[in-house]
Amino acid sequence: MPNQSPHFQRVAEQYNKLTGRGPYATLAPHNRGGRKSEYVNAVFDAAILPRLHEGDCRSVLDFGSGTGVFSRTLAGLGFRVSGVDVSEQMVHTAGRLCDGVPNVHFQRTDGVYLPFQEAEFDCVIARESLCYVPDDLLEPVLREMYRVLKPQGRLLWLEQVSDAPRWQRHPNAPNLVKRAPEDLRVRLSAAGFVLLDEAMVRTPRFPWIYPVWFGLLPRRLIPALARWEVAWHRRFGGSRRRWWNALLIAECHA
Ligand SMILES: C[S@@+](CC[C@H](N)C(=O)[O-])C[C@H]1O[C@@H](n2cnc3c(N)ncnc32)[C@H](O)[C@@H]1O
Repeated sequence: MPNQSPHFQRVAEQYNKLTGRGPYATLAPHNRGGRKSEYVNAVFDAAILPRLHEGDCRSVLDFGSGTGVFSRTLAGLGFRVSGVDVSEQMVHTAGRLCDGVPNVHFQRTDGVYLPFQEAEFDCVIARESLCYVPDDLLEPVLREMYRVLKPQGRLLWLEQVSDAPRWQRHPNAPNLVKRAPEDLRVRLSAAGFVLLDEAMVRTPRFPWIYPVWFGLLPRRLIPALARWEVAWHRRFGGSRRRWWNALLIAECHA
């Protein structure tokens, strides 16, 4: 991998420390891979997986693959998956989680350069990873994603977003920025993508997060509750919060 920026070194150090906390460790990391983390993972799955069946998607780049939990799900559904992550320890963790799973490989890179041929993937998925790419590198990373996508290939960009400057940065998460949705749209367009769809998928205080978090609801209900939350926001998600998770779906304009 080419020389890494100091920012990406800090991100890698942050995520290197989250190994050993199970497959959900990188999501809601204050929950240390517990039920809240598992719920967030289920919401992201519920938002993204149905969208993969639109169009002819067989090969996926999982950008910022973390523990590999989503790559493993994708491989189990028959997709050919390449996962990349800036954290060396996460790449090892993902390799172990997916040991013996066919059609999935992991590599370390920061996204400014993606070690793949042009037009290699039908789809790039970035689940809460581009929020760690600083402003000056976001467009180069998006252009690199565009390069490795096939014509009419899709980027599924799931992100923490906020319209309020005071919520866009948090002292406990100094490497992360919650950009305004409009900023994401502008940057997609600058990199050559055409936005097809945009939806709110999760808000941090959705009512049943607390009973899920404290183990008051059976674990087996988590996938159904997650699907319900995604459907709720799809229908009623117009009112803005301090911050929320949005899913933007964009296509290569080729
Ligand atoms: C919040 S975690 C999400 C992990 C995974 N996408 C998931 O949904 O389970 C963010 C991940 O993105 C990775 N990441 C952050 N910046 C990156 C970059 N520039 N290139 C590659 N990976 C990056 C981090 O190391 C971390 O593993």
